[in-house]
Parts: sequence; structure tokens; C-alpha cells
Amino acid sequence: MRQPLVAGNWKMHGSRAENAALVRSLLDQLQPGPGTEVLLCPPFVYLSDVARLLTDSAVALGGQSVCDEPQGAFTGEVSAAMLKDVGCSYVLVGHSERRQLYGEGDALVARKFVAVQSQGLVPVLCVGETLEEREAGHTTEVVARQLDAVLAVSGAAALASAVIAYEPVWAIGTGRTASPEQAQDVHAMIRDKVAALDATIGGSVRILYGGSVKASNARELFAMPDIDGGLVGGASLKADEFAQICAAAD
Ligand code: 13P
Repeated sequence: MRQPLVAGNWKMHGSRAENAALVRSLLDQLQPGPGTEVLLCPPFVYLSDVARLLTDSAVALGGQSVCDEPQGAFTGEVSAAMLKDVGCSYVLVGHSERRQLYGEGDALVARKFVAVQSQGLVPVLCVGETLEEREAGHTTEVVARQLDAVLAVSGAAALASAVIAYEPVWAIGTGRTASPEQAQDVHAMIRDKVAALDATIGGSVRILYGGSVKASNARELFAMPDIDGGLVGGASLKADEFAQICAAAD
């Protein structure tokens, strides 16, 4: 059995006051049930604050990105060791906004994945196609290429301590969710691809869906056999909605 995981990616939102209110309200409402793991990924500058707010809770903390280098003259960057130091256990790598807006290519994403694992943190590897790629029938090819870049550097065994998030770019922040069947098709493809390399890891790796997940659609998405939870953007900024999404994963 794969433990469901619901991750909130706050992106570049929030303030100290808003974060405190959000986390307090969320902790009040979370009924994590026996199964679901919950993860919050605030902006870097708030990680320590949020870590304090999460003290004694079961909610995990993650970074939204990371530098591929361990330390040194990389102005503006944050290392995996620093993320670990402030209490992170997960780090998003290869989010489509990093790929599209900041030019992160497959090779850099693969190096970030390695950097995260080198500190004993769990990378959440984000993959997904654009609308243009989907309409051209290239979804499988694009997602496979993004996975292959990491597999080439890390090997399949590395996926034993990683999470994969399928986030179709056309569904992010657009209100246009992939249908449960569309998402399931890609999740199954991802799992089959990993299973072809290592059947055990293929069966155990958690694959999250991201892209306009809301309280109103979470349950049917999470009911699909290869969807193990969600990576939630906008809806993770509302405590009651996010708590409902977490409950839907149980
Ligand atoms: P939305 O849930 O706002 O569509 O964002 C998805 C996402 O990018 C999470 O990482």
C-alpha cells in the first residue's frame, strides 16, 4: 500500500501573518486520518517560521526549489543542506514554472534531484506536458523524456526515495483540471516505465497529480488506481479547502 501524500505548493504567496493564520487554521482542521501524509512548501524566506508553526505536528515541510550545487558563490541560490538545516524533508524539483519561466532544463533538474537526495531529503520530481505538446500527441514522449533525464543520472533505484508529480502545464492555475481518466493514463504510463526497470519500486513509488486540484474534484482524482495524492497550488492557500483535499486522499 502506498501512503497518500498531499502537498501544498504556496508558490510566491503569503506573508508572515497570513502564513501563521493559514497554518494554525489548517492544523485545527486537519484530520489526517490514519493514512495521508501532508506537506507544505512555503517560499524559502518563510521556511523557518513555518517549521516553528508545524512543531509537534505531523505535517512535513518542503522547499519549492533548490540549487544543484552544494555551496559556494551562487548568489541568490539555496542549497539542499540549507533546506535540511531549516527543517525540510522534501524538495520540489523541476516544477513547470521553474522549467518554463526560469529556463530549467532536464539536465539541471536531474542535478537538483541528485543534490536533494545527497542530503537525505526526498525530491518531488515534477513532470508534465504543455497544451501544445498534448494537442500534438506528445504527452507520453515529453513525460518519458523528463523522467529519463533523471533516470540516466540517478538510476531507477533512486526512485525508491523520491516522489513523482504529474502536473500537466495546461491544468496549472487555469481551473482546467485533467479528467481523472486523462491523469490516470499518464500516471499508469509513468508507473509502468518505472516498473519496467524495477518492479518493486514501480509498485511503491508515489505519483501525485497536480493542476487545479480542488476540494470539488480531489476525491475522484485520488480514487484512480495510480494517483497517490496531489500537489496543490491555489487551493493550498485556503485552510478549509486544503484540509478537505487532504481528507479526500484518505
Ligand atoms: P494549481 O493547483 O494552482 O493549479 O497549481 C498546481 C501546481 O503547480 C502545484 O505545484
